[in-house]
Amino acid sequence: MQAGQNGESSANSLNAWSADLEAELRALEAKGLKRHLRVASPGIDFASNDYLALNASGRLLELLTQRVQGLHEQVGSTGSRLVRGHHHLFEQVEDQFARFAGQESALLFHSGYAANVGSLQALMGQRDLVFCDRLCHASLLDGVRLSGARRHYFAHNDLNDLENLLQRHQSKRGRRWIVSEALFSMDGDSPDLPALCGLADRHGALVCLDEAHSIGVLGPGGAGLAVQHGLANQIALHVFPCGKAPGLQGAFVAGRAAVREILIQRARSFVFSTAQPPFLAALLGDVLEEMRTGAMQAAREHLNRLSSYLTERLAGAGFEVGGAYSVIVPIIVGEEARALALAERLQNEGLDVRPIRPPTVPAGTSRLRISLHANHRTQDLDRLINLLRGQSV
Ligand SMILES: Cc1ncc(COP(=O)(O)O)c(C=O)c1O
Repeated sequence: MQAGQNGESSANSLNAWSADLEAELRALEAKGLKRHLRVASPGIDFASNDYLALNASGRLLELLTQRVQGLHEQVGSTGSRLVRGHHHLFEQVEDQFARFAGQESALLFHSGYAANVGSLQALMGQRDLVFCDRLCHASLLDGVRLSGARRHYFAHNDLNDLENLLQRHQSKRGRRWIVSEALFSMDGDSPDLPALCGLADRHGALVCLDEAHSIGVLGPGGAGLAVQHGLANQIALHVFPCGKAPGLQGAFVAGRAAVREILIQRARSFVFSTAQPPFLAALLGDVLEEMRTGAMQAAREHLNRLSSYLTERLAGAGFEVGGAYSVIVPIIVGEEARALALAERLQNEGLDVRPIRPPTVPAGTSRLRISLHANHRTQDLDRLINLLRGQSV
């Protein structure tokens, strides 16, 4: 029976539809592809993106407590920014963020997903051509798709491939954009940003860069890859989700002053959504200050040492780890079943390591994604290495 046929009662339609959904779920389960929500496993956290350990150390809770003590009655924003939800704290933290990122302006969105979908849809046009790294995050790809721009994908971090595409595809009436990430979440590697910006310059293209995994981790004060290379002023659309090292929620889109103003007019995920509680924006400002402290600089140096230690020992033991030396160390094991089994064995030993499988990564490259945190010790890495050595990968 087909749902929605003429003459059917709504109860029948509903039953038929939910039977279809259940059949789909059974098929996913049968193929081992059904995802399950699980609360955090106990043990050492190698899975979350709390790179600076701002959550695990309790520092974020201290900052939150101080902020909450300053609250008077109203907690939620009670409206969208364009109606009654605006507050001076938003503008204050946006100015602070723009200075941090070396840009003229910034606008705060609810999440990285909302920032990418909203800003790319608003700023790219149907006549534009967009050249995306093949491994860009779903939110960037969704934003480009919604904009209606024509898309071309270049091989991951392969600037020769990008240059070939730029030479082959001119845009007579629109603009050309290059979209990439500063630190790729599943591979832990970065593009050669000076070379990428050089290419953009030679071909008159605009650059959109997502710094979700580099904020807090790369660059002076944790300001990211573009600031590290002194290239912030060459990034037209600069997105900084704050759910990873900053440990919170929300994302800043930074760029020229006009970018912020246009997004306020056109970005649907900004316009048609209730603003965050203002104290959360202020808390983000506190975290930005925290990231500039000596303690956080020391945390970044510790993370670099941990990354070299783990990468070199795993590579020495014959594991395929890539050579990126960042806070994300992928251990590529190939088949999904292998990644699942290995992760389960590590979890049983008290290490929270998660398997990453298609469609998040290409088929045949299932992996364990090791996320390093400032509160990890070398002994924690030794346990991981020894357990992995004892397994046949
Ligand atoms: C590169 C990248 N961009 C954007 C996002 C989305 O950010 P958020 O989790 O804040 O929605 C993520 C998070 O998974 C990401 O890895």
